[in-house]
Amino acid sequence: MPSIAIVGTQWGDEGKGRITDLLARKMNFVVRFQGGDNAGHTVVLKDEEFKLHLIPSGILSAEVVCVIGNGVVINPEVLIREIEQLHQRGISTKNLKVSCNAHLIMPYHIMLDKAGERKLGTSKIGTTHKGIGPVYSDKAARAGIRTQDLLDLKIFKTKLEESLKIKNAILSKVYDLEPLDAKEIFDRYCDYAEKIKELITDTSFLLNQALDANQKVLFEGAQGSMLDIDYGTYPFVTSSCTLAGGAYMGAGIGPGRIDEVLGVAKAYTTRVGSGPFPTEEEGEVGDFMRKRGHEYGTTTGRPRRCGWLDVLVLKYAIMLNQLDSIALTKLDVLTGLEQLKICTGYRYEGKFYENLPTNQTIMHKCQPVYETVDGWDADLTAIKDINDLPPAARQYITRIEELVKVPVSMVSVGPERSQIIVKDNNFKSQTFDRGFTAII
Ligand code: IMP
Repeated sequence: MPSIAIVGTQWGDEGKGRITDLLARKMNFVVRFQGGDNAGHTVVLKDEEFKLHLIPSGILSAEVVCVIGNGVVINPEVLIREIEQLHQRGISTKNLKVSCNAHLIMPYHIMLDKAGERKLGTSKIGTTHKGIGPVYSDKAARAGIRTQDLLDLKIFKTKLEESLKIKNAILSKVYDLEPLDAKEIFDRYCDYAEKIKELITDTSFLLNQALDANQKVLFEGAQGSMLDIDYGTYPFVTSSCTLAGGAYMGAGIGPGRIDEVLGVAKAYTTRVGSGPFPTEEEGEVGDFMRKRGHEYGTTTGRPRRCGWLDVLVLKYAIMLNQLDSIALTKLDVLTGLEQLKICTGYRYEGKFYENLPTNQTIMHKCQPVYETVDGWDADLTAIKDINDLPPAARQYITRIEELVKVPVSMVSVGPERSQIIVKDNNFKSQTFDRGFTAII
């Protein structure tokens, strides 16, 4: 039962997609278990850039079965577009499966997301406008429409009409928008149904069978731990469980079926949208990170807020996900900074916090407490061995490991598959036949 979950430890955009892509090559299954096309993964393969929002990153490896689990919310238009784009570039999607219990994003979810944000004005969350909050609200309210409804269009039509009675009233009376036409949506979704019906299946059953048969399964998290609906910086979060625990519910497997959890952390911190970010650097340093790290959203193109690495955030993610190791990404972006800062605590009203404070007000108003370490000047991008990194870069990694008490198992020094350095001894390598080195 060799299985691994890969999750983000910060506010998303840590580089999970490329780590997944790297490991996917030795997997039998890669599974998305939460979120929707609010996620965005960029994977570079032989100078070609692939931007995926909904389809698991494993799709670039021909033999891997890619699963969109029940915890994912699906905009069928986006799904079909991604499938077509992959086909145009010669990538097969014959092994793509979609859960029959996943909820569908409908046009009114997107309209309500945008209108709700507009109404909030300066208090807005800064969502990706993909309809995520409204579709998960409908799911919890038992008013959602699932992919399996596309297999019975009579039921789909009834549910759509019921839903529109309320949604159109809200759109027109609360937001002053034009109501939507049921027939137009129905016709459009019938077309989608025709295109994706073959993919829809009981993926929970499929995955449990795969695990029983000792197949290698990778659960690919989207967003990051600090965007989790329960444990993130609420309300400035997404609407799903972004933690490793979310994989159990969002894929339909029982506790104990994941052997190893790998947390992905950027060597600094970024976030998009509103919400507290104690180590944010709004000046030169932030600009440096944004420019060198190409820190613009894959989904929305928005410039990301940038700042120093926050150990409190990392320790919290380690606890919530029970991380076995960390993949530290984008270390090369920090090249050229004379000194680096690592946040080891927050100070607020005379009190020092070494762990994330319970009261979020503190996160909004605290002063970060930093440890300063030396930077490096040498180009890291061609380095293949951890021992060849400049001493200051090695020291940066070692210091992080000491502070968070979890080993770093991989370090990325550039966007290519080949620019990931593996510290093999830090993996729970019994999960895989010969450890991760064999994969690379
Ligand atoms: P939503 O998920 O579109 O509702 O957005 C809620 C919050 O999560 C906003 O701050 C978004 O910027 C953030 N968010 C959602 N998906 C991602 C992601 O994939 N990376 C980074 N931030 C994200």
